[in-house]
Amino acid sequence: MNKVAIFFGPEGGNTEKAAIMVAAEFGEENAILVPVKSATEMDLEPYNNIIFGGPTVGTHTWSDDSKNNDWDIFLTRLAKMNLEGKNCAVFGLGDHVSYANHFVDDIGVMAERLEAAGANLVGLVPVSAYTFEESLAQRGEVFLGLPLDEDFEPEKTQDRISNWVLQLGKEFK
Ligand SMILES: Cc1cc2nc3c(=O)[nH]c(=O)nc-3n(C[C@H](O)[C@H](O)[C@H](O)COP(=O)(O)O)c2cc1C
Repeated sequence: MNKVAIFFGPEGGNTEKAAIMVAAEFGEENAILVPVKSATEMDLEPYNNIIFGGPTVGTHTWSDDSKNNDWDIFLTRLAKMNLEGKNCAVFGLGDHVSYANHFVDDIGVMAERLEAAGANLVGLVPVSAYTFEESLAQRGEVFLGLPLDEDFEPEKTQDRISNWVLQLGKEFK
């Protein structure tokens, strides 16, 4: 398997903690962590196996016109990128108790944008292991990426990441 690039943001919170855990699970020599705040298409270019991680923090999380989060500039760039031939996976931080009707919505939004850019989406996870009401990340019986809930299920994070990385080991090339 080729090296995995993990684009994440913001820094300093649950997303970064999870990104570091994902990288550790692949092994330091097999993964590179890139804060999305400063990332360009040039940073994506060398990699065929790419992970994107971010939190859902309300409707503006993925907004192109808001200037308040790490994803704004990158998503504007992503809209112009061609990701054909690249295997992409998403993990998302959320809160299944306080936001049961919008649980990890960001995963769904991000996954759709990646698919629109031509990426091969991998790392889908069965919804059956989670409790929630509604989510833009759900398609049929799966989430379009890995949901993590550091607010109410932190004890599950390590196992969820370990299993996901095992799965990606088969799906990444
Ligand atoms: C203002 C606000 C809005 C949020 N909205 C959602 C939401 O719509 N869906 C969800 O699953 N989690 C939501 N969350 C929970 C965050 O995604 C969660 O706390 C996450 O771990 C934050 O990650 P960070 O520390 O990297 O910012 C929200 C949190 C805040 C503070």
